[in-house]
Amino acid sequence: MSNLRQRIQFRPASIADITLLRHWDQQQHNIDSDPNDDWDWEQELPRNPAWREQLIAELDGRPIGFVQIIDPYEEDSHYWGEVEKNLRAIDIWLGEAEDIGKGYGTIIMTQAIERCFAKREVSAILIDPIATNVKAHRFYERLGFRFMERRFFGEDDCFVYQLKREDWRNRQGQFI
Ligand SMILES: CC(C)(COP(=O)(O)OP(=O)(O)OC[C@H]1O[C@@H](n2cnc3c(N)ncnc32)[C@H](O)[C@@H]1OP(=O)(O)O)[C@@H](O)C(=O)NCCC(=O)NCCS
Repeated sequence: MSNLRQRIQFRPASIADITLLRHWDQQQHNIDSDPNDDWDWEQELPRNPAWREQLIAELDGRPIGFVQIIDPYEEDSHYWGEVEKNLRAIDIWLGEAEDIGKGYGTIIMTQAIERCFAKREVSAILIDPIATNVKAHRFYERLGFRFMERRFFGEDDCFVYQLKREDWRNRQGQFI
């Protein structure tokens, strides 16, 4: 695992990634996990608002996944509604079905969590897998996220999970 940690690196996503991201959007595992969202890459990839990071995870330089980290309090559509300050929300997916189930997602999510908690003011991280994405629920629970509530975001019936800084520190004290 530690070797894999070094082989997986983040870089900012850019408009040059649009073909890749559109291709990943068409993969069945990503349609199943996010059936209703339009990420509007053409519009969004050139933007760099202070409340968001859009990242490509690469394994030995090969793009394998996408991560978005937002500040839900600052995010301009107020997708999360009324939320506290000093939270982050993460979206994650792997591009190709062949890359699923090999431990890559765990490393990518661990690095995304560490990136969020590297800012001292961040108290907790939110995620919102759809209710049917049972494998993702297990994935997040294994990382220490706790179920908070079932909630609709638009048409999407979601489970909201939260990872508090202290829960992460208790599990992964060496990282924060
Ligand atoms: C969720 C995801 C990022 C996890 O990454 P991963 O590299 O597959 O996960 P790992 O190999 O580190 O860990 C494996 C675990 O991931 C979970 N998992 C989530 N989605 C999965 C899928 N479609 N297929 C297999 N396992 C999946 C399972 O809990 C699995 O372990 P288990 O089946 O033994 O319980 C990745 O599977 C993925 O991109 N899935 C599709 C998109 C998605 O669901 N994104 C999350 C939306 S909230």
